[in-house]
Order: sequence, then structure tokens, then C-alpha cells
Amino acid sequence: MPRLHQSIRHRRPKAFHTALFALFATTALAQDSKRGFAYVGDTHDSDNKLLTSSSSPLKWYYNWSPYATSALSSLEFLPMIHGIDATESSQTEPTIRDLPSSSKHLLSFNEPDGTTGSGGSSISPEDAARAYIDYVVPFRDGSKGGRNWLISHPVTTGSPNGLDWLRRFNESCYDIDEENGCPTDFIAAHWYGAFAGLSGWLGTLDEFYNTNSSRDTPLKIWITEMGLPQQSAEDTYAMMNRTLPYLDQLDYVEGYSWFGAFRTDDANEWTGDGVALFDDDGGLTELGALYLGNEFKEGQKGEGGASGVRLVQSILWMNKSLAPADCRLEASHTFHLSLAA
Ligand SMILES: *[C@@H]1O[C@H](CO)[C@@H](O)[C@H](O)[C@H]1NC(C)=O
Ligand SMILES: *[C@@H]1O[C@H](CO)[C@@H](O)[C@H](O)[C@H]1NC(C)=O
Ligand SMILES: *[C@@H]1O[C@H](CO)[C@@H](O)[C@H](O)[C@H]1NC(C)=O
Ligand SMILES: *[C@@H]1O[C@H](CO)[C@@H](O)[C@H](O)[C@H]1NC(C)=O
Repeated sequence: MPRLHQSIRHRRPKAFHTALFALFATTALAQDSKRGFAYVGDTHDSDNKLLTSSSSPLKWYYNWSPYATSALSSLEFLPMIHGIDATESSQTEPTIRDLPSSSKHLLSFNEPDGTTGSGGSSISPEDAARAYIDYVVPFRDGSKGGRNWLISHPVTTGSPNGLDWLRRFNESCYDIDEENGCPTDFIAAHWYGAFAGLSGWLGTLDEFYNTNSSRDTPLKIWITEMGLPQQSAEDTYAMMNRTLPYLDQLDYVEGYSWFGAFRTDDANEWTGDGVALFDDDGGLTELGALYLGNEFKEGQKGEGGASGVRLVQSILWMNKSLAPADCRLEASHTFHLSLAA
């Protein structure tokens, strides 16, 4: 992507932006798509065929675990070290080590500021800093995981608690390692809510990590969960329609994944049906067609039937009592660790 910096520290003359954008925008977007999806484990082969279609802009996925999904092997997989449990499992490191070389980015703790009931890992900033330095940082220089992984800080909820957690995490990191703190190569973010809140939260993270920091190279953000909970299909479509072009041109965003790669039947109560990319019959929803790009039409189905994706564990699910009034409090989702059958 052309570097079209938005932040003050990196501002270039406007004419330079415009020229670059005119030159590269169209082709760069098609080739270097930022688009991916959060994968809860869809049991329908036909859905997975559409998600992996070479004519779609979908280039990557993750599933909250270190275990890749074989049905999606044509895409870049981002492994995740979900919480303290994963750092204590003897399976985590060899599993990540064995991933194909197309996997380069490693995600760390999921919503440590959130409860386990809503899919979070519920870790104090102090404990997270210790576990991050001991367990995650060694993946960076290849002393773990067999190669030089690009690692991310833990991904918090998009709430004020999230920012507070990140501040305390950073302090704890420097308490432990005065010189290096907790090094990170990129930032991951979650957002559930309307467009204005999404752009505001991204701006806050960019300010926290880039504008207000002395680092030389600005960090890029990957939005690993986003959606508009409990809204009509029409409103959700309008939100996505506005969000995709915005994220595509925002230089500090390197990747984004919608939370909705499942059928309406499989949507959790907290997000509601509106986020789903597939309808009950496996046809693309209007939203799904928008997300998969111009080649795809509403109602279109992939080939094949039930699939080889075996859902081995369903550990996270919606807890209605957490559903926030302003959509900014908690990200909740159904979570499956998917293994190839
Ligand atoms: C960035 O720095 C300004 C000025 O010190 C401060 O007001 C603001 O809260 C900081 N932003 C973040 C996200 O920490
Ligand atoms: C983290 O803490 C260090 C040391 O206090 C400080 O220099 C740095 O600006 C902080 N980073 C962020 C992103 O707040
Ligand atoms: C989608 O966005 C385009 C412009 O980018 C606009 O013309 C169109 O009206 C939008 N559609 C909806 C349903 O919001
Ligand atoms: C939902 O969360 C609340 C508060 O954490 C808890 O008291 C309640 O038992 C949970 N509900 C279910 C069905 O687990």
C-alpha cells in the first residue's frame, strides 16, 4: 500500500497524497487486500469454498487459536495465543512452529480486560506483561516458533476499560523490563458498534501507540473483530458500506476482519443475525455479497455440502447479561477451535 499517513508526525504535503492515491489506489487495493475474517468454525463446505474463492478480496483469517483450519489453507492464517492457558500448553509452541511460511503474524491475549464468559481471557495487566515477556516475545527473534514472528500486543475490548488496561499493561512492561518494555510489531483492535465509534477507537489507538510515542516506525493496526450488534440487515449493510472504503484507504490499518463468517442460524444472540455473511441456506446475504466484493451476488452459494470441519470445542458463548446499551462494552462471540477432520 502507498503510505498515506494521517498522523501529524508523518504528514506530507497534500498534493503528494493526492498524486499517490490517484496512482495506486485502485490497483493496490485489489492486490494487497486488507480483508479477512474471524472464523468461528463453519461446518458447511460450500460456505468455506466461497470464503476461500480466489476472486474474493478475503486474504486471511484467524480462529482465536494456534490451530489452522485445513478447509481454509489457501489463506494466510494468523495464530493466536488466547490467554495464560495457551502459554502453559505444551501444544502451543510446536503447533505455531509447524504452520506454513505464509503465516507471519502472531496474535496474543484475547480481550484480557473482558470476562471469560464473553470470550475474553481476563488477565490483569501485571500478569499479562509477565506472560507476554516470558512467553510471547521469544517468538519475535525465533527462539520460539521456528522463525521471526511479527507479534501483537494483547487485543482489548473497544471500551474505555480497554485503553486503561493497555496503559497499565505498558507500565507493567516497563516495570519488568526498563529498557524494552513489551516490544510489539503491530496492534490488534476490536470494535462492535457504529462507524463513528470505530473510527474514533482506531484514532485513539493510533494516538496512543504512534502520535504520542517516540517510536520511529508507526505501528499498523489489524482490526480482528468488528461488527454492528443487534441491528437490522439494512443498517448493518449501511455501516459496512461506509466502513470498508474508509479502512481500505486508512494507512495505519493493515488488516481487518468482520465478525460474521457464519449463517444467520449460527449467529450468537449478542451480535444478532444482522452480522452474518450467509443466510440459513448458505446463500450470501446482501452483507456477505458486499464483503466478498463485486464478483459476488446476494443469494450466491458455494459448491458442496456439509464439510470436514469438525468443531471440537465450543468454549465461548454469548451471555446476554453482558449486552451493552452503547455497544462499546464487551465483545462476545461463539468460539470454536476448529481442527481438520
Ligand atoms: C496523547 O497525548 C495527549 C497530550 O499529552 C493526551 O492529552 C492524550 O490523552 C494522549 N492520548 C492517548 C490516547 O493516550
Ligand atoms: C509506555 O511506557 C513508557 C515508559 O514509561 C513510555 O515511555 C511510553 O511512552 C509508553 N508507551 C505508550 C504507548 O504509552
Ligand atoms: C454505499 O456506498 C455508496 C458510496 O460509497 C453509496 O452511493 C450508496 O448509497 C451506499 N449504499 C448504502 C445502502 O448505504
Ligand atoms: C452471565 O453472566 C452473569 C454475570 O457474570 C452471571 O451471573 C450469569 O450466571 C451468566 N449467565 C449464564 C447463563 O452463564
